[in-house]
Amino acid sequence: TGAAVYQANCAGCHQATGKGVPGAFPPLAGHFTKLLAAGATGRAYVGHVALYGLQGSIKVNGQTYAGVMPGQKQLSDADLAAVLNHVATSFGNKWPAGQKPFTAAELAKLRAKALTPAAVLKTRPPVK
Ligand code: HEM
Repeated sequence: TGAAVYQANCAGCHQATGKGVPGAFPPLAGHFTKLLAAGATGRAYVGHVALYGLQGSIKVNGQTYAGVMPGQKQLSDADLAAVLNHVATSFGNKWPAGQKPFTAAELAKLRAKALTPAAVLKTRPPVK
């Protein structure tokens, strides 16, 4: 399930609560919904981050993060979809109006892009 995939592959940094660690690991709690709310761009972006990781400076809730997240492309498309669906509906997050759960097919399409972590940053929607 998405919860188990999260616990094994994400919680070490973003914490079991999804609140992250200020200045080191950004929160997903509340924030993930804002990324998704950007629409198709936000949806693709969170898929990119999960697959390829992220490198470069970002701001979340006014706090700067200049870390490196390792990509999780060892996970199957189905597990990646499950973990994104888990995060989208946990820690106070909810689907923006009209959005459907991620599918394995959607992740397979994003996987075909083969981005670097720095290139992923360029696909980030404008959120604070
Ligand atoms: C950033 C999700 C695993 C460390 C992010 C962001 C998302 C995310 C959506 C982007 C936040 C934004 O742009 O506002 C996930 C998911 C994971 C996972 C779903 C598991 C499948 C990890 C792990 C680590 C980590 C294992 C630590 C080893 C980070 C860091 C950033 C980040 C440091 C910010 C990178 C930067 O400053 O450019 N994560 N993450 N994440 N994550 Fe993860």
